[in-house]
This record gives sequence, C-alpha cells and structure tokens, in this order.
Amino acid sequence: MGKTAARVAIACAAATCAVAAVAASNRLRQRANWSRAVAIVDEFREAFQTPMPLLKHVVDAMVAEMHAGLVREGGSKLTMLLSFVDSLPTGDEHGLYYALDLGGTNFRVLRLQLGGKNGRILNKEYQEVSIPPDLMIGSNEELFDFIAQRLGDFVAQEGEDYNPHGKIRELGFTFSFPVNQTSINSGHLLKWTKGFAIAETVGKDVVSELQTAMVRQGLQMRVAALVNDTVATLAGARYWNKDVMVAVILGTGTNACYVEHADSIPKWRSALPKSGDMVINMEWGNFWSNYLPKTQIDEALDKDSVNPGEQGFEKLFSGMYLGDIVRRALLKLAKEAALFGERVPSKLSLPFILRTPDVSAMHTDESSDLEETSRVLSSVFGIKSSSLQVRRLIVEVCEIVAERGARLAAAGIVGILRKIEGDCVANGVANGEVGKVNLANGELGKLIGNNKVNGRKTVVAIDGGLYEHYPKFRNCVDSTITELLGKDAAKDVIVQLFKDGSGIGAAFLAASHSLYR
Ligand code: GLC
Repeated sequence: MGKTAARVAIACAAATCAVAAVAASNRLRQRANWSRAVAIVDEFREAFQTPMPLLKHVVDAMVAEMHAGLVREGGSKLTMLLSFVDSLPTGDEHGLYYALDLGGTNFRVLRLQLGGKNGRILNKEYQEVSIPPDLMIGSNEELFDFIAQRLGDFVAQEGEDYNPHGKIRELGFTFSFPVNQTSINSGHLLKWTKGFAIAETVGKDVVSELQTAMVRQGLQMRVAALVNDTVATLAGARYWNKDVMVAVILGTGTNACYVEHADSIPKWRSALPKSGDMVINMEWGNFWSNYLPKTQIDEALDKDSVNPGEQGFEKLFSGMYLGDIVRRALLKLAKEAALFGERVPSKLSLPFILRTPDVSAMHTDESSDLEETSRVLSSVFGIKSSSLQVRRLIVEVCEIVAERGARLAAAGIVGILRKIEGDCVANGVANGEVGKVNLANGELGKLIGNNKVNGRKTVVAIDGGLYEHYPKFRNCVDSTITELLGKDAAKDVIVQLFKDGSGIGAAFLAASHSLYR
C-alpha cells in the first residue's frame, strides 16, 4: 500500500470510529433519557396515588367540613350554600317554561312544555350558544346583554301554540357559580370560577343583572328560580325518581348538592322559611384537606390560575384542569428526559392547549400501536413522530392523573353519603329505632335502607361531560364508590348519569315557583 492510500485508510477508520463513537454516545444518552423518563413517571405514580387509607381520610374530612360549613358562615372552605329549594318537582308541573343554563364556555336556552302527571314533558326545544372568550373576562353589562339577546332570539322562535293569556313568561336560571342566595330567585355572586373573571359582577344580585339586561333587550320575562347546576340536576332527576338525594357535577367544574334537614343547618336556622328539607349547594370545588395529594404540578397550576388558592378540589380533577395537569406532566418529561427529542416542542408550554377530551382519547386508546395517541400528539402539540414505547408512557401518565381524580371524586360522594348516614343514625337513636350502630364500612346501605328512606335505595345523580364522555373516569368513580362502601352497602346506593338535568331541572323549578301556580 502506498503512503497516500495508507493515510486515506487511516482517516476512514478514524471517521468510522468517530461516527460509531457518536452513535454509541447517542445511544447512551437515549438510554439515560429513557431511564429518567421512567423514573419521572414512577415519581408521578407515587405522588398521585390514592390508596384506600388516604381515601378514607378524605371521606372523613368531607364529613367534618360539611358539618363545619353548616355551623357558621366561613366555618369551612365548603360554603354549604342554602338553595331556598325546599320542595322538589313532583311531576305534576305543567305549562310552558324557559330555562337558561349558564356555567361554562357555552350556555343553553331551553323551552319546555310540561304536561302534568300524565303528560310529563310534552315538548322540549333548546339551543346552545358558545360564549366568546373575551366576554368571560370583559364587562358585566356585555356578558348579560349577550345572554339576554340570545335568549330573546330563542323566545322569538316560540311558534303559535304558546298562548300566554296575559301571563308573563317564566324562566329558571341555572347559574353555576357560587351564589349567596337570599330567596329562590335572588342571590349575590360570591366569586367567579372556571376561568370567568369579571370583578364588577362579584357581590351583585345576578337575577337583577339578568332582568335589567332583558329589559334593555326588550324581553319580557320573569326569573322564577335561580339555581346552581347541582341543584337543578337534583330537581331534574327527582322529577323521574323520588329516591334522588344527592347530585354531583363532574364537568368543566365540579360540585355537589344534597337534601339536608333544615334543623341541621344552625347558621341559617333563623333565616329558614320553614322546617323540613332544604337542598344545600356544597360548592365542593373549594373543598380542601391536607390528606389530598397535592403535587408540585398542582401547585404550579394553581399559582398560574386566575384564582390562586381557591377551588383546590376542583383543580385536582375537573374537566377544566385535567388536561392541563397532563400537559404539565408531559412538559416535565420533555424538559428533563427529552421525551420528544432534544428540542422541547413549543406547544407543550401553552397553558390549556391539551383538553380533557384529548386525555380521554389517549387514555382509552386500545389500538395496538396507539394510533389515537399519535393523532392527539400531532394535532395538539405538532409532535409528528414518537415511538410506541413513548406513547405507552404517555397513556400511563393519563391514567395516573385521571385515576387520582376519579378516586377523589368518589371519596367526596361517599363523604356525602356518610353525612346523610350520620344524620340517620342520630335520628334513629333519638327515635329509639336504630340503637348503637357501627359506622364502619358496610353499614351505610343498611342504615339508609332501614331507616332513612323506608327501605328504598339512595340515588346519586351525576351530570357533566367528564363523567359522561370519559368512560374510564366514570368506571373508576363507580368502582371506587363500591370499594369504599363495601359490596353489600353499595347495593343500596345507585349512582346514575342524569343527562341535561341542569337545564330541565331549572324549568321544573320555575314551574314549581311560578306566579301562576
Ligand atoms: C364550579 C362552580 C359551581 C358549579 C360547578 C360545576 O365549581 O363554582 O357553582 O356547580 O363549577 O359546574
């Protein structure tokens, strides 16, 4: 071999060596990144876990906070608001009623023709309107004018068969935010939630705001009932089933209400119109207990939100936040373990870009190569390629986040059932019917069955997109309730999806609080 040829051969060998060395170091880096990614997901699993003992503490804390919130205003983060709904629909309601259901980025207007005992719902029409995002943080007048105008457009399409006979049209107004009610059709907004932030509205009577806007729009209509969506759902579900005692919203936001004895409400005893039952809007989105597993991700999400320090329970799992918790987890994986390559995809840093339906789509992806997950990664974050191994890890992250949420929601529901159970025991003991009862798991169904509602089952009505459209979340809520109650007791509790209860229920309540009853 000549000298030149020898030099070329040496250079080639060196280059080959260098390429091989780079490849080897890439492989090493990838392996290290992958180990780091797996370790991060292990940390998530640990931090998000909700073992049974923790859930039982959450159940107890929910019961304790419910009591504290009923004793006095400010007694708990659970505001336990009086709804002034002291009679629920019976099915006898009849006539034409409207409902306006405002609670998230959309509102709905409904027209219902009720036919009494035999007729039930003769006709139902509705329209859904999306609220331009700038109106959610704009001025009070603009928001209410927009709503009144769209309601007016809907009323204008009423058709011939409505014969008012000089009566004014009546409306049930579902306003799904915390309101301090002063009567069935008046109440002041305590604070906005779910991304709304219009400072002017806080402290105002929302019914007056709506009535004034309706006058500005030339619309003649009376707000007969102002209700939270949980209360409307309870009313809507009661129309069909007398055993409904609890209603829960698992949607953009989350909340619950239940039927309480007026005598158990010390803080309002003087204000109560009469003794009997009263629906309490718990505003459980604001529930907090140190047992709740709050991670660094939750802390950062809260800090960046429009209402830091508030709605702690809601921020752990409601539909508005679940997607963003997953996004933050993926961002950490991208930054610290280069999950999507050396460059962090820029869209991963955009708050709320990943929506809860996307999380559900990935979590429920059953295809062998996780095609749906690829589709979400590409359409939401612009990540065009990923390995199956990476996609599996992402599905696992969705599972970790959603399971924590569903199990905590279940613990909240069992807390309410326990509170009702405790009241049964107290009443039973007072009447000498039950005697000393063991409050351990498993007794609830028996108590409710034997004592509370005369052998009937207790029904929990649930509404909201998170529960309706995210099957794995729903299944986990249901199975955790059974796990917490014990199989026997769980037989006496029915958890049921009641779709669209929040609009329909408001129309029923408008009927039962009509001027023309
Ligand atoms: C938020 C609201 C609450 C509502 C819930 C569900 O938590 O504060 O009033 O019921 O969302 O929509």
